[in-house]
Amino acid sequence: MRFDILTIFPLLLDSPLEEGIIRRAVAAGKINVNIHDIRDFALDKHTMTDDRPFGGGEGMVMKPEPIAGSLNFIEEKNPGGRVIFLTPQGKTYTQETAERLATHEHLILLCGRYEGVDERIRANYVDEEISIGDYVLTGGELAAMVLIDSVTRLLPGVLGCEDSAGNDTFSRGLLKNPQYTRPRDYEGYTVPEVLLSGDHAAIAEWRLVTSVRQTLEKRPELLARAVFNKEELQILKRNSLLEAVEKYGNIQ
Ligand code: ADE
Repeated sequence: MRFDILTIFPLLLDSPLEEGIIRRAVAAGKINVNIHDIRDFALDKHTMTDDRPFGGGEGMVMKPEPIAGSLNFIEEKNPGGRVIFLTPQGKTYTQETAERLATHEHLILLCGRYEGVDERIRANYVDEEISIGDYVLTGGELAAMVLIDSVTRLLPGVLGCEDSAGNDTFSRGLLKNPQYTRPRDYEGYTVPEVLLSGDHAAIAEWRLVTSVRQTLEKRPELLARAVFNKEELQILKRNSLLEAVEKYGNIQ
């Protein structure tokens, strides 16, 4: 999968690509990330990428020519990429969006700065606008990295099976159950006995129950997407969770 990122702060994007799973995905050729400095496509001798807004007002607006120039450069070399503009005015990013984007071969991520980009770019060059949440960043660069990270881990062969994406929190509609590792006793705080029991059925039950309890407590609206099989429904019943889950979920 190919990502092209358009930014006026290319250095901001280097280090997230140089660690962990993403670095491995780059090294293995699963993803190819190309960072373009919009300033390289500025037409005037001062390499201006922004200017004052028509009609007055505060802040600066990113000029259309350097952005169009970088998009045309990418299109000439690698045509057909989907152009995504990272902006707080976009649709809110979710795991579902990540799954859909992971089916594309080429994404072009336009990072905005200042008060925004000239509307003619948004209207004529952008396929999709994405916000990573209802808060305002100083620019789209970190949002672009969130998108690359969340899409890359979904690509075949990127995650090892020990941390596969199959039972991700948001695919299942449940928050993950709590996790414990050694030592058994950490300064008097102990690990739940059941996890040490070797009783796989009891452990599976504990995992489901704690996962449902956490979801009810913190993100009950997620339960609308949760699906439970017969055995799981019995576990919920046994632990007096069925009624609470029914309130939010679509249990048949
Ligand atoms: N740029 C500034 N804030 C943003 C956000 N929340 N999501 C995406 N891009 C942004």
